[in-house]
Amino acid sequence: MTTIAGTRWVVTGAAGNIGSALRAALLELQVDLVSTDLRPTAPVGPGDSVVPLDLADLESLVDLFTGADGIIHLGGIADEADFHDLAEVNIVGTYHVLEAARRAGAPRVVFASSNRVTGMYLAGDHVSADMPPRPDGFYGVSKVAGEALCRLYSDKFGLSTVSVRIGSYETQPTSARVHRTWLSPADAVRAFLAAMTTADARTVFYAVSANSDRWWSLDDGAAAGYLPEDDAAEWGGPEHFDPTLPQGGTYATPAYSIDRMRR
Ligand code: NAI
Repeated sequence: MTTIAGTRWVVTGAAGNIGSALRAALLELQVDLVSTDLRPTAPVGPGDSVVPLDLADLESLVDLFTGADGIIHLGGIADEADFHDLAEVNIVGTYHVLEAARRAGAPRVVFASSNRVTGMYLAGDHVSADMPPRPDGFYGVSKVAGEALCRLYSDKFGLSTVSVRIGSYETQPTSARVHRTWLSPADAVRAFLAAMTTADARTVFYAVSANSDRWWSLDDGAAAGYLPEDDAAEWGGPEHFDPTLPQGGTYATPAYSIDRMRR
């Protein structure tokens, strides 16, 4: 694996669940970190500079990305919400990150996509990253758009982009669904390290642990160097999940979207 010690990476959404844990792990690997978020967050140690910023501010993103070896883009709305808000923060915000990377000459953007881009596939299906998207809500649509923007910036402008379809990031699996979708904190670090260092300049893969009952292929990740080591089965036997229901479970129901629409 390419060494990342001494390289400079900007992390958006740095104050969030994944951002906070990933920053600590990257700092241990001597990555030179620039952490940004709308919300305040303390540096995780020396070598971590915090710059508060709204993803709406394209010009400031260009300044922030200048001199960076890459950007890990975690910032945004992390669940179903009103479509107008998702469009503004997740779609326009991701456009700003990619466009700022292009203008600043930063070579790679790692995009935090989601398993919810394919949440309407059934639990009996085995899904890989080359299958058509079937989002389970407007949040999933915003991540499909983010992946499409990544693809555009790679194809048209030569920016390296890696879309990481994150499973369920939890310390331990807590439901029948998460037994299939779990991404352990340690495997999350493995997934992002692979995304930061893969020789493949443009790829998409599922960041899921090696769960015995997983729904998604690990092959795309393996090609990028992501080799998960954890399995939700270590936390107990598989619980039943109806194979004729969408993988998104509750997220895939009409009410889950309708309840979050602006009135
Ligand atoms: P989180 O909600 O804890 O963190 C997201 C961060 O983005 C927050 O700190 C928030 O302040 C920041 N943010 C929101 N709007 C912003 C704006 N306009 N400008 C700047 N910063 C803004 O989410 P989490 O769990 O850490 O997830 C990180 C990323 O991974 C998200 O993009 C999420 O959609 C994606 N993801 C997470 C999964 C999970 O299991 N946690 C599963 C699939 C995808």
